[in-house]
Amino acid sequence: MLRNSVQDSTGNRPDPRGSDRPNGTESPGTFGCLLRTQRERRGLSLTQLATLVHFNRGHLSKVENGKRTPSVVLAAACDRVLDSGSRFTAIATALEAAARPSPGWVHPAQLPATKRHFTGRQRHLDQLNEWLCDDRSLALPVAVINGPPGVGKTALAVEWAHQAVRDGRFADGQFFVDLEGPEPGDAADPFDVLGHLLHAVGVPGERLPADLHQRAATFRSYLHGRQVLLVLDNAADAQQVQHLLPGSPGSAVVVTSRSRLPGLLSRVDAATLPMMELCRPEAAELLRAMIGDARADADPAALTVLAERCGRLPLALVLAAENIVSCQHPSADRLAAELKAEEARLALAEGDVALRHTFDTSYRALDEPSARIFRLLGLLPGQVIDVAATAVTAGVSHDEAVRLLRDLASAHLIRRQDERHYLMHDLLRAYAADLSRRLDGATASARKEDRARAEKALVA
Ligand SMILES: Nc1ncnc2c1ncn2[C@@H]1O[C@H](COP(=O)(O)OP(=O)(O)OP(=O)(O)O)[C@@H](O)[C@H]1O
Ligand SMILES: [Mg+2]
Repeated sequence: MLRNSVQDSTGNRPDPRGSDRPNGTESPGTFGCLLRTQRERRGLSLTQLATLVHFNRGHLSKVENGKRTPSVVLAAACDRVLDSGSRFTAIATALEAAARPSPGWVHPAQLPATKRHFTGRQRHLDQLNEWLCDDRSLALPVAVINGPPGVGKTALAVEWAHQAVRDGRFADGQFFVDLEGPEPGDAADPFDVLGHLLHAVGVPGERLPADLHQRAATFRSYLHGRQVLLVLDNAADAQQVQHLLPGSPGSAVVVTSRSRLPGLLSRVDAATLPMMELCRPEAAELLRAMIGDARADADPAALTVLAERCGRLPLALVLAAENIVSCQHPSADRLAAELKAEEARLALAEGDVALRHTFDTSYRALDEPSARIFRLLGLLPGQVIDVAATAVTAGVSHDEAVRLLRDLASAHLIRRQDERHYLMHDLLRAYAADLSRRLDGATASARKEDRARAEKALVA
């Protein structure tokens, strides 16, 4: 029987644990005490045990202290390494059964599959662990991954989430929601999203509250006392996110967005993780992983050139690799040569995924003055954008140029270098220049004039 009654729509809290959580005698503490005793009896340090069972030392320490529930996989490894028959496995299995959600709570397991060729990003994964798993405060941990289009925000969130689940975290379930940013007009409505989330945990359509705030309250009630992970992918703005957040600790939230999500930090105590393109070795490694050793070894130098022509942007790298694997281009060398032309880079596409289309969605989210400045930046010389030169070239005041460039940085279409300078990724600059040619009809001579004006402003 479903436990969410009419009361849910008033925001009253359904009992999150329910009657199927047996009063078993086992607890994470029982497991932890036994683990410490057995480990010390064999003269093993935590670090040595961690190496032997292939689990992280910090996680084991928490398990020993009863602060983390051991997974059955960890228990089996402990049984094997500590030669203890199936004692650990039996306790972990009982704990898992006790933790199984009650009727009325349909265990959500919505994470998409990880990428087989996921490469690098170790520092980011560690940072997410620190924020979302090691936080001992009572606040709800929220991490916001943001960065330019196609940089790998979703791939990182999904990879981290799977690793956390493998480590025994978020035993009550994982939600994954596409918020359909970055254009606020096209983005998912939180009212509908909450409907899907509540439905996913077992609330039937006729019991869904008819008001946004009541839906949000009911969702928070359902999550209270549970350990769930909520991945909110591709958020358009802070308003969209705020109604979807759990209200109590135990759960964690990862938000991905191309936007800096202005206004979010005043509503939520979130930590921000900005992402940039891959470093050189990782970019080459990703290409190699996708095209295979045989093709990569045929011309390793071409791999490096190809990675640079793709600006080391994961989306461009993946599309380039798919081009090679599908034999549209027989080798990294041939494709690298073709991508010397900026238009060819922007035309990278496979199936319904196209680099230009991905950039388009960010561009369309800009207001007209920001869009105009963005196009103009494509015409300026060099990778570094000088605020004063931008103001002169665009014919706007210095303050207006500062404001517009901040907007573009907030959308991750440029990156702040220091007070007076910004940087633009090569592929985005090529895209901006292309837009300028098409939309502003920038002729070769007009472009030359703009460049000359910018150069003059720089010298001045
Ligand atoms: N570290 C990585 N290793 C391997 N593949 C990656 C990595 N990061 C991203 N990718 C791949 O690159 C492509 C773009 O990544 P992803 O969709 O995560 O980017 P994004 O930043 O979320 O883009 P968007 O802004 O459009 O949401 C995907 O095919 C993804 O699988
Ligand atoms: Mg994404």
